[in-house]
Amino acid sequence: MSFLTLGSRSSLVTASLTGQLPPASGHGYFGGTMAHAAARLGTTALRAGAIGVATALVLAACTGDNDTESDDAASQGSDPASVVTPGTASSSHVDNAYAGATMYVNDKWSAQVEETADAAEGDDGDLADAMRDIADTPTAVWMDRISAIDGNADGPGLRYHLDAALEQADGDEQMILTVVIYDLPGRDCFALASNGELPATDEGLARYESDYIDPIAQMLAEDKYASLRVAAIIEPDSLPNLVTNDSDPKCQAADPYYRDGVAYALDSFAPLDNVYTYIDAAHSGWLGWDTNSGPTAQLFAEVVKSTEAGFDSVDGFVTNTANFTPLEEPYLTDPEQQVGGQPVKSGAFYEYNPDFDEADWTADLYTRLVGEGFPESIGMLVDTSRNGWGGEDRPTSAGSGSTVDAFVDESKIDARTHRGAWCNQDGAGLGRLPQALPDGYEASHLDAFVWVKPPGESDGGSSEIDNDEGKGFDPMCDPGFSTERLAGNTTNALADAPLAGKWFAAQFAQLVANAYPEVGAEVPAPRTDADANKPVGAETESSEQAQEDGSTGDDSAAAEGDESAGDSAAGCTAQLTVVNKWGTGFEARVKVKATGPITGWVVTMSLPKGSAVNNIWNGDNSGKTGTFTVGDAGWNGALAKGGTGEFGFVGDGVAPEPSSLECSAS
Ligand code: GLC
Repeated sequence: MSFLTLGSRSSLVTASLTGQLPPASGHGYFGGTMAHAAARLGTTALRAGAIGVATALVLAACTGDNDTESDDAASQGSDPASVVTPGTASSSHVDNAYAGATMYVNDKWSAQVEETADAAEGDDGDLADAMRDIADTPTAVWMDRISAIDGNADGPGLRYHLDAALEQADGDEQMILTVVIYDLPGRDCFALASNGELPATDEGLARYESDYIDPIAQMLAEDKYASLRVAAIIEPDSLPNLVTNDSDPKCQAADPYYRDGVAYALDSFAPLDNVYTYIDAAHSGWLGWDTNSGPTAQLFAEVVKSTEAGFDSVDGFVTNTANFTPLEEPYLTDPEQQVGGQPVKSGAFYEYNPDFDEADWTADLYTRLVGEGFPESIGMLVDTSRNGWGGEDRPTSAGSGSTVDAFVDESKIDARTHRGAWCNQDGAGLGRLPQALPDGYEASHLDAFVWVKPPGESDGGSSEIDNDEGKGFDPMCDPGFSTERLAGNTTNALADAPLAGKWFAAQFAQLVANAYPEVGAEVPAPRTDADANKPVGAETESSEQAQEDGSTGDDSAAAEGDESAGDSAAGCTAQLTVVNKWGTGFEARVKVKATGPITGWVVTMSLPKGSAVNNIWNGDNSGKTGTFTVGDAGWNGALAKGGTGEFGFVGDGVAPEPSSLECSAS
């Protein structure tokens, strides 16, 4: 089997017997074995004890208890008046930072897109238009080295983005800015393309804390930025590398610094009301095997428990950062589906990993994390910037091959040679646009789709390129290289790529051309939970099931529209759920369900006197106070019988009575 070539050394045998070997990384790759990870996990309790309490952190303009630790901070030469104790988790966090918020648009990224569109104009006007259409898409801001905090040749610093976010909010909207925290000592220990500036040494960690995390935390704590929300993506690939690649000497050396560094970052951000932390959880093609996903959840719990605020220091997790793994494999919905007498997951492409996509992985991980003690309120983000896999070659139905490998090859939308291929993947396309609370992935507990990797920025040079950022040349970025790490396949990387993080116009053009959904197209209906992990061809059964569930009634309040009385009438029901409440307001979602095929819907609702809606998404409203209507947003209007659409809103005052809602369909 091809997976035999993936692992290394003695525990390969164990791994191959159970059919579980760890592959790919976000930008890095994989290796190592589970036996190793398990052995290592045994030592972590000890280490967590030894990490001890993070040094007190000085936060300008942030209030908090000044207890004995403030002396430490003061002795570091900081302003003692503004010292807070790290780790006292903020109590004012909403459940989902992205809900009801507008995502920040990085105009520096937009400018690069516009420039690329101008250059493409002569050759392909349609492509240039498509580029311009997405030029204002929100993307994350990467703090990929110390100099990025103040700004460097690659762009302006963090303050520029925070100020621009305030301006975009215009005093009115709730803005959220996604910032990637990415500078651990010994960064990218299992690859070369994104190696960093700090060595995996005690000195490296000290600099990480004092020159990187502290200034970022201090800036985010300034009063001026209190009205923003900042989602901090915590250290892509780092803890995942400890799960699968700890047999690599570089990862072994980095191990204690990754743990301590991540804990320090969490401790530093936890007291800040406006900062929400999301720990990187790689992707399904790396951690999906039971033998990886279990240890992943354990490791996350260990590291998080070693912080001052414990589980309260984390708001959620993010998957697929800078990777290409699809949100859904629409035609491969059941890993156990039998083809030629074998389960689909046994195919060379999946190597017995039952998590085929990020919908699977987030759902799997969520359950495991809650099992390890994380609160149910944790939410998942998926980086959908480059996981669309559209274009001419995208399959439109399940294949008919009679062997597992033929069937998988014909059915899968992920066109990589191997799921471990991670650098500048040829054939990839933009994925789902950034969106809070995407409908249809209930089991995944998604807070949002986010474009964490800014499309168009390279994953690594395809040949050696001189630089002063510590970045190396990784053969995984060389299109001609083949390796056992990819089961003997070539890397599928694009040629002529610049250094990691630099603009790669040709890649950007391909991503736009292969976008799925196509730029401007309607969002395809998600694979519903009922359909997830059902054999291909079982759709009818599962949608009947969904209907049955609907007609037996939910326990939450639902109001039937006039036209929705009979099951067969083309009508709809609307069901309101308040998902968040705070002193002065609330956030709610309304789920519309069609009782027959419909082409559009309108929900009438009444807000109590004194209450008002101030932000609404995925719906088109006629007013904000009293009685008003919310119609579908176009793309979510047409529903099959039993199908659902959803809109959400944030309001001041109190939410409408669920029974006041009426739904009418066209
Ligand atoms: C890579 C690079 C980093 C860049 C990021 C976003 O990981 O190493 O420098 O900022 O991608 O493009």
